[in-house]
Amino acid sequence: MPSLEVCLTHELIHLYPPTDKNVVVVDILRATSCMVTALANGVESITPVASVDECRELQQKGYLAAAERNGQHVEGFDLGNSPLSYIDNDFTGRKLAMTTTNGTLAITKSKAAKEVLIGAFLNLSALAEYLKSKTDDLLIVCSGWKGKVSFEDTLFAGALVGQLQSSYEMDCDSAVIALELFKSSKNDLLSAIQKSSHYNRLQKLNIERDFEFCVTVDKYPIVPVLMDGVLVRVPG
Ligand code: MLT
Repeated sequence: MPSLEVCLTHELIHLYPPTDKNVVVVDILRATSCMVTALANGVESITPVASVDECRELQQKGYLAAAERNGQHVEGFDLGNSPLSYIDNDFTGRKLAMTTTNGTLAITKSKAAKEVLIGAFLNLSALAEYLKSKTDDLLIVCSGWKGKVSFEDTLFAGALVGQLQSSYEMDCDSAVIALELFKSSKNDLLSAIQKSSHYNRLQKLNIERDFEFCVTVDKYPIVPVLMDGVLVRVPG
């Protein structure tokens, strides 16, 4: 059986080298929730970049561009980091460039993996089903907040671990911690994420609808995968 480990923040990724593994990157509030929503609603591809400058360069080349820092929409970009902007607008067929405080950085740090996949509550079961068919070891990388652990990413890691328990071998305390957290919170995910520091940070921005949306389970049966530096939907 392949092994499953959870890296609780991208700052710890040196302890879990991604080479030869599949990696799921998680940033529930809100980068990976946005990516799943964008691809499910017609965006053709997403180029995740670590810096605002790289994102601006792609915007100048005609990409739709989304940039977020510290939870806020960076001035001069088409979009910030609300998943609802991909529902309220029609971006069918557009190529999107995206940079966020932690999520796109976690993707950049995971690039050595065999496959980099994107996880959110929105695509939980589709992702789990896809991973059940794989034979490579798996690493779940929680983006966290500026190198620190975050509640909501750990919560999602626990939900995914719960679905993969019989397909992967777990000898990893952070996977056990994540699973126990999910078990104790699964009946009310919205109340659970209200305990997180990022919830408090974002609450000041009046984005209550984003919170409800980001804890919606299985809204989109899609799996985003990084191919040649660009996120697209796994076909099928
Ligand atoms: C991030 O990448 O840090 C985020 O997703 C932040 C946010 O949207 O608030």
